[in-house]
Amino acid sequence: MPAAAKSPPSEDKRWRIVTGTMRRYGFSPDALIETLHTVQESFGYLDEDALQFVAENLHVPPSRVYGVATFYNFFNLKPQGEHHCVVCMGTACYIKGAPAILERLHHDFDIAPGETTPDNRVSLTIARCLGACGLAPAATLDGEVAGKLDPNTAVAKVEAVLK
Ligand code: FES
Repeated sequence: MPAAAKSPPSEDKRWRIVTGTMRRYGFSPDALIETLHTVQESFGYLDEDALQFVAENLHVPPSRVYGVATFYNFFNLKPQGEHHCVVCMGTACYIKGAPAILERLHHDFDIAPGETTPDNRVSLTIARCLGACGLAPAATLDGEVAGKLDPNTAVAKVEAVLK
């Protein structure tokens, strides 16, 4: 199995998910868009370090990585809200109730996936797998994985970071 050429910018476990995507494609340059999606799903946006990390591991010139990241308007280059909630909509989480969690977050905070509350306090995105399927339905809140959620506990977690 091919190994990552360069280690991640930090110890943050979310880099493992990013590396996992690149590994699935054999660290081929063809994995660029898919990998950028994974970075965004995991972190909410693409920063300099992330773009550099992806460029080095996929052997793509940084200028091209930057070009792709800025060309598509679904990629964010800046952090969105003060807090970032990622709800997993992968199969395991979906089956165990992720749609009801999203619906409740929408109802209580008036945000849909891809949106930030008008006061800029919370951004919501969805992921295709957070690598925590055993904890389904799972979400991350500011990078911390929360599992076995239901609509009430998900709302409580978001409210807790907003206090
Ligand atoms: S499907 Fe949700 S963590 Fe894997």
